[in-house]
Amino acid sequence: MNQTITTGILEVTYVVASVMFILGLKMLSHPETARRGNTIAAFGMGFAIIATILFHKKDGQPIGNIPWILAAITIGTAIGWVIAKRVKMTAMPQLVSFFNGMGGAAAALISMMEFPHVSPELIAKSGMANGHVLAILLGLMIGTISWAGSMIAFGKLDGWIGDMRIKAMKYVNLTILAVLIGFIVYIMTRHVAASAELTPLIYVMFVIAVIYGVLFVMPIGGADMPVVISLLNSFTGVAAAMGGFLYSNQAMLTGGILVGSAGTILTILMCKAMNRSLLNVIVGVFGGGGQSNMEAGGVIKEISLSDAAVLLSYSKKVVIVPGYGLAVAQAQHTCHELDKLLEEKGVEVKYAIHPVAGRMPGHMNVLLAEADVPYDKLIESDEINPDLPNTDVLVVIGANDVVNPAAEDDPSSPIYGMPIIKARDAKNIIVMKRGMGKGYAAIENMLFFNDKTRMLFGDAKSTLQNLVNEIKNL
Ligand code: TAP
Repeated sequence: MNQTITTGILEVTYVVASVMFILGLKMLSHPETARRGNTIAAFGMGFAIIATILFHKKDGQPIGNIPWILAAITIGTAIGWVIAKRVKMTAMPQLVSFFNGMGGAAAALISMMEFPHVSPELIAKSGMANGHVLAILLGLMIGTISWAGSMIAFGKLDGWIGDMRIKAMKYVNLTILAVLIGFIVYIMTRHVAASAELTPLIYVMFVIAVIYGVLFVMPIGGADMPVVISLLNSFTGVAAAMGGFLYSNQAMLTGGILVGSAGTILTILMCKAMNRSLLNVIVGVFGGGGQSNMEAGGVIKEISLSDAAVLLSYSKKVVIVPGYGLAVAQAQHTCHELDKLLEEKGVEVKYAIHPVAGRMPGHMNVLLAEADVPYDKLIESDEINPDLPNTDVLVVIGANDVVNPAAEDDPSSPIYGMPIIKARDAKNIIVMKRGMGKGYAAIENMLFFNDKTRMLFGDAKSTLQNLVNEIKNL
């Protein structure tokens, strides 16, 4: 096929793929359309890959090494498919972190492969000497940080890497960041004359960026992980966009920019939700900075199923606070059954949704949408908080950190400053959980010892099912 035609087909496919990414992202913003949005964006990516293999030409030559490329795609697809099919819903955040890291690694590899090919002739041809090299260096730095940071985040979310807090970490990280920027400036000023000689510096930069990625995620723990995850997500997007810029590939550029900007917006929203500063996220310092001073104290009061059934049935207003335990127990359908049953009895039921409840952004929204809970019943925490003093019963189902008053009362707590659902303002509090297990931040929760709180111990799903039966028998 004539080159003008193949270039035309390629460009049209990239535009179509870009539109599909944008449409997919738009649809991801609502639980009802999210699944379709994901499929549309994935097909867009598929088209872009197939078109590149078939029609891309460099200096008039088609792409080489096709068997290698196809073998890599087949192996990668098979591994990704099996992992994604087998992953449990509760292990999704670590999987997302791992996949995000792979994107960062791919962007860093592109930079490492491309830098030795930068030559005065190439630069003269592309007409973008500095832009070309800057894209390579930024892709390397950001992609590597994203990869190394995501791997640490993966280990933390999976529970086999703990927090490591060193007092001077902020300064160490700022120094490493300054060194990396120093490398970029040095290479930028010398690359035209001596690209080949500078190649070893690229590997040194890679190692320093790995150290930075590890060190900036290591101290971050507990409740602050969501912010870091979304920041790493945006890093991968920016690094991929650098690759798109390098290859003048619109699909890669659009995909990267979409991920980068969506990730950045999410990071800002998360920072706001957690009351953290963006600079603190970037240098890896967070929270109250250590162990909470709160000691478990007071008396735990339990409530029987029949008492809980009566209390709920004769209430006017009930607010349910779903948390990670609801997802673990897969109790969302039974929870919705309880909510419908109460509404049939004339009780107003709403859900209080904390932005970091669960283990991934929007976790509770997705979980409850799966059980067909109407979206307008899900109220953001800052919106529902003023209404809690008028709430007869607040039912905490498998949530812990997001209702922990230590965020307001204990300046030494790692979650200090994080806005919470002010559960203790409600008239009565029922907490459903299996025992006295801690939440993700691994700290004591004085709400469970509050005078107004009564515990309903057990797995959320069976407790909810028993409660539903009890209410039906009233
Ligand atoms: P958590 O604080 O993690 O508490 C969950 C509680 O659920 C635990 O205390 C546990 O107590 C209980 N539980 C576990 N399995 C259960 C089951 N089968 N039935 C009933 N209860 C069960 O949850 P949260 O309040 O949703 O807060 C989320 C935390 O995760 C925050 O610290 C947040 O920062 C962090 N995080 C969030 C994200 C995102 S993006 N959302 C990402 C990473 C980390 P028992 O063991 O006693 O049952």
